Amino acid sequence: MKRSGLILLMGAMMILSACQKKNTATEDAQMRAFVDQLMSQMTLEEKLGQLNLPVGGDIVTGGVHSSLSVEAIRQGKVGGLFNLKGAAAIRDVQRIAVEESRMGIPLLFGMDVIHGYETIFPLPLALSCSWDTEAVERSAQIAAREATADGICWTFSPMVDICHDGRWGRISEGSGEDPYLGSRMAEAMVRGYQGASLADSATMMACVKHFALYGAVEAGREYNNVYPDDYHAFNEYMQPYKAAVDAGAGSVMAAFNTVHGVPSMGNSWLLNDLLREQWGFMGFVVSDYTSVRHMEENGVCTSLEEGAIQCLEAGLDMDMVSDGFVALAPAVREGRCSMQAVDAACRRILEAKYKLGLFDDPYRYCDPLRREAVILSDEHRAEARRIAGECMVLLKNEDDLLPMQKKGTIALIGPLADARNNMAGTWSVAAVHDRYKTVKEGLEDALQGTGARLLYAKGSNVLYDARQEAIATIFGHDIRDSRSAEAMRQEALSIARKADVIIAAMGEASEMSGECASRVNIEMPDAQHDLLQELAKLGKPIVLVHFAGRPTVLNWETEHLPAILESWFCGSECADAIADVLFGEVNPSGKLTVQLPRHVGQYPFSYRQMRTSRPNEGGEFIKYITCYADVSSKPLYPFGYGLSYTTFEYTNFYLTDTIMPLDGSVEAHVTVTNTGSRTGSEIVQLYIGDLVARGVRPYKELRGFERINLAAGESREVVFTLDADRMSYYEPEHLNWTLEPGDVAVMVGANSRDTQMRLLHVVQ
Ligand code: BGC
Repeated sequence: MKRSGLILLMGAMMILSACQKKNTATEDAQMRAFVDQLMSQMTLEEKLGQLNLPVGGDIVTGGVHSSLSVEAIRQGKVGGLFNLKGAAAIRDVQRIAVEESRMGIPLLFGMDVIHGYETIFPLPLALSCSWDTEAVERSAQIAAREATADGICWTFSPMVDICHDGRWGRISEGSGEDPYLGSRMAEAMVRGYQGASLADSATMMACVKHFALYGAVEAGREYNNVYPDDYHAFNEYMQPYKAAVDAGAGSVMAAFNTVHGVPSMGNSWLLNDLLREQWGFMGFVVSDYTSVRHMEENGVCTSLEEGAIQCLEAGLDMDMVSDGFVALAPAVREGRCSMQAVDAACRRILEAKYKLGLFDDPYRYCDPLRREAVILSDEHRAEARRIAGECMVLLKNEDDLLPMQKKGTIALIGPLADARNNMAGTWSVAAVHDRYKTVKEGLEDALQGTGARLLYAKGSNVLYDARQEAIATIFGHDIRDSRSAEAMRQEALSIARKADVIIAAMGEASEMSGECASRVNIEMPDAQHDLLQELAKLGKPIVLVHFAGRPTVLNWETEHLPAILESWFCGSECADAIADVLFGEVNPSGKLTVQLPRHVGQYPFSYRQMRTSRPNEGGEFIKYITCYADVSSKPLYPFGYGLSYTTFEYTNFYLTDTIMPLDGSVEAHVTVTNTGSRTGSEIVQLYIGDLVARGVRPYKELRGFERINLAAGESREVVFTLDADRMSYYEPEHLNWTLEPGDVAVMVGANSRDTQMRLLHVVQ
């Protein structure tokens, strides 16, 4: 069917749809009728073409490129493209699909818009440290506004994989280690991307990934196996995927790893039974990059075709880059692959296109005027700066060294201080690095006209080893200096000697975390560590502005430096946001969503420690009690921890009743007072510890939080409602979401370590 035919069909459907949008049932019926009509005219090859997603841009995350050609689009063998940037380029390609293919079906254009488009927000791990679901939603909304103005209608986000292992580089892409917090972040991102309706041209379809359990990769090694049993899978990892699906996410990406010994993309239990039947997911499932090919690598089939059949029959709808689905016509004709599976997948993809309004106007996301108005707008940048300020975590601030005064001589030192391409952080596919400031420029702007003097020296490379540094700064973010380590160090020491205070901008380079960036050494990179030690010998106050996309080990720094700001990678406005925090325009309020270990050997590691035999509350060595002989088993900085320039006190914590029937509810009240001298935000955290249950439960698990802003001296009462829903868990026998009678410790506090407790008796 040519474009004209499609328009006629649309016209007919539009008459049919006079009362469209009145109710979803009617809308769904209209959509189904439209797709039925369309599919009745499609050949088998055209249907399979809809299931094919080749890469459109030059971001390649696997070794293989799919065989995309313009001719394939003309032949109707492509359903969508991803990581092609620019409204003009997208419009051109869309035109080929719409005007030159027989059916004229528009393409989906996807991209890894992970933490912003050109206006880049903090990495998802950093964003979660704001504990601000509104801010997270807003960041996704702005990302959608910008991306959709540039032709993109589908993002491969949110990544909601819970992770207990800082060795895994992709911990940067998720919301940390806690399933409750991760679920709230997942919902917020879906709401932000998709808004009230996908039909709005400023919203885009979300893709929840990586389903399922990818964050549990063995020993933090990328693309590896995961082993949580069902009980732990459901209680620790599955909730955020479900929360995102419940929030209406339009698509899901199958993970690279196996679940129950079967690769996720070919796992019928995972995709058909759990996701669709039990959770009621109505959207489509896309594979991860070339993962249909991985079926063979996993040894579960002997050819690409066989693997593709297994995946399609298991409920995978779209094949990213493998060219497996698109070649299935002979298998269908010969009865080795069912036509029902092809039809079901094709329908789901066409329905997604319908919901996005692509059949109404295939170019609705390619408006050059809108692009000019919204991308990197002042409004978006201001929001990104504000949100970045909420994400940084103040780990240490001895003698109130921070906020700094804008006076005297400040030495800014470190390889990340003037490293423009480093600012946005990993997975910033659409970034325009030359539009972003370096830390040095941010501080210079903040100090302008104040009389304070800023001196700068790079001081060291990121790492001594050039090859290792090239890996750490892959994608051309090369910031290596050819001078000798000694020459660089001497230059830094000489400016440091002239300064009243030193700001050290150090840590990971942007690509030291992210995909395929698993590491066993998560301490300060060697060259920077040595430089920091030399600087510390000068006896001047040092503020460490620490860049990282993962939890790192900061033992030496904690012991020897008076102030540490965990600035993560906070995006395009990171430099200004750092200046805002350092000079006190912004009072830091971020709190860790992953605890920081004392040693990499503690991984896997989570504050949500399940009860064990021979428990050890203190974490120190005691023979025949759970512990390490050579290091405390406690974190260096606990989950939920973060300082402010003011202080907060928790008083008057009580439960409205000490007994709660299973079908009843009780309130937990606590009064929080800002006891310092400046306005600040506090993240009030509610934990429970189910003392007796059929399944072993964690000593402490987050089940509520509230971010509040208090003026100096102000108090506020925070109230959490406790009921079965808030306190349930997946019991071990049937994995039902259940609360059982027994005692529950209810705890509130400023972090997972410093809590107060009241006992609640849950009765039948
Ligand atoms: C990653 C996905 C990403 C995809 C497309 C893969 O390697 O695992 O998270 O969405 O590439 O770029």
